[in-house]
Amino acid sequence: MSTSLDADSCAAAQAHPNIALIKYWGKRDLPLNLPVVGSLSITLDTLWTRTSVRFGNDLLTDRLSLNGREDAKQLRKVSACLDLLRARAGTEARAEVVSHNNFPTGAGLASSASGFAALVVAADAALGLGLPQGTLSEFARRGSGSASRSIFGGYVEWALGERPDGEDSVARPILDAQAWPLRVAVAITSTAEKAIGSTEGMNRTADTSPYQRAWIDTQEADLAEARAAIVARDFERLADISEFSCLKMHALAMAAKPGLLYWNAATMAAMHAVRALRASGVPVFFTIDAGPQVKAICLPSAAVQVAAALREVPGVLKVLETGLGGPAKLIPVTEAEAA
Ligand code: PMV
Repeated sequence: MSTSLDADSCAAAQAHPNIALIKYWGKRDLPLNLPVVGSLSITLDTLWTRTSVRFGNDLLTDRLSLNGREDAKQLRKVSACLDLLRARAGTEARAEVVSHNNFPTGAGLASSASGFAALVVAADAALGLGLPQGTLSEFARRGSGSASRSIFGGYVEWALGERPDGEDSVARPILDAQAWPLRVAVAITSTAEKAIGSTEGMNRTADTSPYQRAWIDTQEADLAEARAAIVARDFERLADISEFSCLKMHALAMAAKPGLLYWNAATMAAMHAVRALRASGVPVFFTIDAGPQVKAICLPSAAVQVAAALREVPGVLKVLETGLGGPAKLIPVTEAEAA
């Protein structure tokens, strides 16, 4: 039975993008967004999405404003995600969603991860549900797989899970950001929206890449290695396994038909710059997602040098610097609207 809401069912939340060190690529269930592999990430600090959600009995349809513009493409996904929360609250009230990112949207910087994490945290509060974080992670996953990890801060693992309904395929924090405060420099090499989104890329890879089986079969060992490196705060060990996972994911996707090429010339140049720094003793490694940006992860002592070196790379437009951040959290609605 659907219930009517109080006039003012409004809340806002902030969430940060995360960057996978052990990558997620491939879905075993499309509608539920269940992965073929587990994954492990770090949540960032200074980059954020701020989102306010107002449920109102006066609204005839859901509405979405993203970075000041109506966004019909994202609205469908946002509505589907809100439906999960509406079902829990027993309401059919429509919502007005206003969301801002302080970084480029849809360009391989995980704006969908922070976006859906902020959305579910805000909607949960607006509806007065108070769902556990595991359920928020599950609902965020339905919007965008990697969003399951942005519910949490620091070092986070998203479990593969076994259940067909996906209730056990949720993220959990494995180490606080403060316990090992690595730094990240993001080299922006293009601000264009990517040509092939992650869902299309993953499906094409699963259908055509001859390496799909090897990808699935080798992931558990990579996760175990990364977990061990994090527990031991062993930077070199984490660097080796993270670059391995990144290059393996891209090799898998490049071997699809037609092959997926997410890199440009500056991406490649930045990878070589990071490798050269590391060869000269600087504690840094790279990772790259389904886009051309290069994320360089380093120890705090190397942060200034790494950012400066990336700024010198031909084709790098801008370098964003950040540390590791905390979980998605509620913020005043006025703060979200001022974003
Ligand atoms: O969550 P999606 O559908 O945006 O896919 C994310 C895929 C990668 O960023 C390439 C890897 C990852 O684990 O985040």
